[in-house]
Amino acid sequence: MIEVKNITKTYGLGETAFQALRGVSFSIEDGEFVAVMGPSGSGKSTLMHILGCLDTPTSGSYVLDGRDVSTLPDDELAALRKNKIGFVFQQFNLLPRTTVLRNVMLPLVYAGADDHARDKRARAALAAAGLDDIYFGHRSNELSGGQIQRVAIARALVNDPALILADEPTGNLDTTTGEIVLGTFQRLNETLGRTIILITHEHDVAEHAERIIHIKDGLIIEDEKLHGSKRRRGA
Ligand SMILES: Nc1ncnc2c1ncn2[C@@H]1O[C@H](COP(=O)(O)OP(=O)(O)O)[C@@H](O)[C@H]1O
Ligand SMILES: [Mg+2]
Repeated sequence: MIEVKNITKTYGLGETAFQALRGVSFSIEDGEFVAVMGPSGSGKSTLMHILGCLDTPTSGSYVLDGRDVSTLPDDELAALRKNKIGFVFQQFNLLPRTTVLRNVMLPLVYAGADDHARDKRARAALAAAGLDDIYFGHRSNELSGGQIQRVAIARALVNDPALILADEPTGNLDTTTGEIVLGTFQRLNETLGRTIILITHEHDVAEHAERIIHIKDGLIIEDEKLHGSKRRRGA
């Protein structure tokens, strides 16, 4: 699904130029659950922006679903994002005074689906994200952090994206709530076969994935497969 070859990213020009990615290569198969882990400043968010088609690399190639997207213009990148990628961020980015159901339906508003179809898909996404249906009519500012992150996951799912990208999705949650959210990602991966890339600086979080790509100073230093007992189960 994803093939990244020798990607670099340089910010700025001349004397002040800074190379945040210094030649990164890996591939990710359809249905994998991969964590990208590294300390602050190692280039994780830069990589996530490129994988999420929010930015393009300075050099190297990025093939997503058979298509080289590393040199696409902004409007084509935007179309790809809308159709292929679901994002979950550390900040939940929900509309606080709007109901849970409407927040999840929002990405479908411009997709041409009618009200009934939107409602149905939003409910299915919320169920897949593990939110009890008694909360669907609540405003999002009435929910707990863990419930809100489930709504954000449902919103990322509602367009039926090929790839889910999560940047520090448990960064604002306590450990117990974080475990529940990580368990939700595991379930989406195992039962629905979703491809998930989880960005984190915490080893305890990364261990919920099947594979950890370790990144440091803009380079991959280790690509680790987690088997059986090494892998943590979320709640
Ligand atoms: N827009 C930018 N302009 C200049 N430098 C940047 C920019 N974005 C990130 N950087 C630098 O690139 C490096 C990697 O940043 P980032 O990808 O955000 O790392 P991480 O997400 O792992 O903390 C950092 O040293 C950061 O200061
Ligand atoms: Mg970051």
